Amino acid sequence: MGQAMTESTKPTERSPWHKECWGFINRLWVSVVPADLRLFIRVLRSGPQAVGAACPSSRHLADYMAAQAVLCDDGYIVELGGGTGVVTAALLAHGLDPKRLIVVEQSALLSAHLRTRFPQVTVLEGDAAQLAVLLGRRAERISAVVSSLPLKSLPKVTVHRIGNELEAILPKGATFIQFTYSLRCQAIDWAQDLTCLRSRTIWRNVPPARVNVFAWGGL
Ligand SMILES: C[S@@+](CC[C@H](N)C(=O)[O-])C[C@H]1O[C@@H](n2cnc3c(N)ncnc32)[C@H](O)[C@@H]1O
Repeated sequence: MGQAMTESTKPTERSPWHKECWGFINRLWVSVVPADLRLFIRVLRSGPQAVGAACPSSRHLADYMAAQAVLCDDGYIVELGGGTGVVTAALLAHGLDPKRLIVVEQSALLSAHLRTRFPQVTVLEGDAAQLAVLLGRRAERISAVVSSLPLKSLPKVTVHRIGNELEAILPKGATFIQFTYSLRCQAIDWAQDLTCLRSRTIWRNVPPARVNVFAWGGL
């Protein structure tokens, strides 16, 4: 009896059956769920506010964003919040020279993943609220910013800092592309003088999202 009670008070010890069961679930998870999605879910679980999305962007969303960005044929294209690299892949597929692409990603795990997946692209691990420092001299030659940052879920103070950084480095007329899950909303209240050039709802995304293409600082 004493023996039985001692054993039942050790919650960390797992029976062989329990271990077998977990092993099976783990193998099923790994074989059914793609590696990128598993990584995304892992980062999402550790900080949902910073990820701000239930799953990675769809190829359709990424394609539309990339098609808008590659219209700018000079200078660097900066991708903010690279995540698992869906938009990065679309930018390269649209013919962007990897030397012109700089990806900024805050998560160490996702940055490492992006570096492995796109060895020719510059991946900067860091906070977009410190963009000028991260970019250094490259900040002088930016023609477009493609952002997947979750501006609605990040703290307001962070969003304002990101806005100030962009204000400081983007030349007038630079293209700023941002997607949002808020389908009716076009305005960005933290940046002055943005002109919306184009806007499209991408229904083939989970959930559907709207891509807004702005001219920074007016035309
Ligand atoms: C909506 S998810 C990325 C979606 C991405 N297109 C994909 O398909 O994986 C937003 C990304 O922004 C990153 N992020 C959030 N806040 C950031 C910040 N302040 N600076 C840089 N990256 C940030 C998150 O780590 C996350 O990878």
